[in-house]
Amino acid sequence: MSEQSILSNRLYNNKSIEKFITLISNTTGLSHSASATTAGVVVLTATILFAWKQTRLTRKIIPLVGIPVPKGALPIVGHLPLLGTDLAETFRKWHKELGPIFRIKMGSKDVVIVGDPVLTQELLATNGKYTSNRPDSFSAHDFGQGTPKGLVLGEANNKRWNAARRIAILLFFNNLFLSYIAIDTLGPKRTEEQTPVLSKEADEFVDLVATGENINPLQALTRVSLNFILLTMCNTRTASIEDPFYKQSTNIINSFMELTDPKYVISFLIPSLQLLEPLTGDQKRVRNFFQQKSRPYFESLIEKGLNADGDNMVKTMNNELNQGKRGNYNEIIHIVHDIIIAGTDTTAISITWGFLQISTKPDVQKKIQQEIDAFVNKNGRTPQFHERNEVPYLTAVQRECIRLRPTTDFAVTHIANEDFEWRGNFIPSQTWFFPNMVEAHMDPKKYPNPREFRPERFLDQEDTMASSLHRKVEDRDQFNFGWGR
Ligand code: HEM
Repeated sequence: MSEQSILSNRLYNNKSIEKFITLISNTTGLSHSASATTAGVVVLTATILFAWKQTRLTRKIIPLVGIPVPKGALPIVGHLPLLGTDLAETFRKWHKELGPIFRIKMGSKDVVIVGDPVLTQELLATNGKYTSNRPDSFSAHDFGQGTPKGLVLGEANNKRWNAARRIAILLFFNNLFLSYIAIDTLGPKRTEEQTPVLSKEADEFVDLVATGENINPLQALTRVSLNFILLTMCNTRTASIEDPFYKQSTNIINSFMELTDPKYVISFLIPSLQLLEPLTGDQKRVRNFFQQKSRPYFESLIEKGLNADGDNMVKTMNNELNQGKRGNYNEIIHIVHDIIIAGTDTTAISITWGFLQISTKPDVQKKIQQEIDAFVNKNGRTPQFHERNEVPYLTAVQRECIRLRPTTDFAVTHIANEDFEWRGNFIPSQTWFFPNMVEAHMDPKKYPNPREFRPERFLDQEDTMASSLHRKVEDRDQFNFGWGR
């Protein structure tokens, strides 16, 4: 028996293969002859090889398979009903049960929650070309012009976004003093020159506290950080918390924050709920806010900046992005918006939490006082930013305050803009990432007794928080300002 007939015999012994050969014969028009059999063998082998390869590929591309999932997800809504009102607390429990990284379904979205700084670094920085985008949601600012969505929600790999971000960082953060925390974070190149203008704002706050009257520190500090930004951006400021300009500004900021309410986000997670829009009118309300309230406010800020004497960020941006022409602020408006929104609350909240934390610690206050007194006795004035190493305890307290109570629980959500592989996992495009700030700062190996307030852990950190951003992830002091993409 020839080799071919042995093969044919074996093949004919198998009923399903016989059917297959019949199918080949019918489709090729050949009879059950040796040539049909050969053709069948070739096609069958190819099919088996293809199926085998597909199985391997399929095995490989099961999305996110190595990342654990909390039990109890339901169809359509996923884990949404299990999240409760305190997301950080729910995630703390899941981290305890499942480890430093897990994933959940929020409606139709796959969300990876990552609490370990090394893993977060790998996902958001090392793989940053896949993960730097931010999810678009309908609470994203829609100024009705269809342009890129600014700095925070822009498409990170988009050329215009990179240009906008470069301008913001080079001209704003590096050259002009913002606030103690922001400048410490974002690059203190010419802080000394800018200090006098902005120190006046801080002095006003100190005078207010020194009156001994009850004040709302968050409100007063919001004005300080808003003024830092307004002065830098458009040479303008608010005069008091009663000033209509202050009220208008905080109204815009607070209204924006309200748009993060679940009711405005839910239909983005469960798209079928968008069918209810004619009844709820939520998306329309958001659009109206941006186009009728927010846009005129930010346009008036831009005009203020362009009409002001001296240099400011708005003028520089208008020169770079608009060749100095007036009237079309489509791009600048997003940047101005993002900086006001991202910078005002974060700075004010961080300092307010700091005050709150040390308000119950008289020994800490005493040590800070002694350190500042010693500096004042020696220099006849209070220390400036560039002299921070002469007040190491104060600087360590600031670091410990934002470690123990991070400014945001989850930083800014990132989204995969294309499929990629990470540690053998297939991460599909559109996966969301929540960097868990609370968890990142509670690692007992990095921060022994992490729940205790112990500024001493930072006493040997001499460089700024900005330069700490460039250290190896294991050597960074804290992670509040994200992962640098
Ligand atoms: C305590 C104060 C602050 C904290 C904790 C903070 C934290 C953060 C974090 C975590 C991100 C996301 C980064 C990432 O996705 O990896 C971010 C982005 C951003 N922040 Fe801040 N920030 C603070 C102050 C400021 C200030 C004062 C400004 C401006 C005046 C500012 C402007 C921005 C902008 C424009 C972005 C979007 C650009 C980007 O994501 O790279 N932030 N901030």
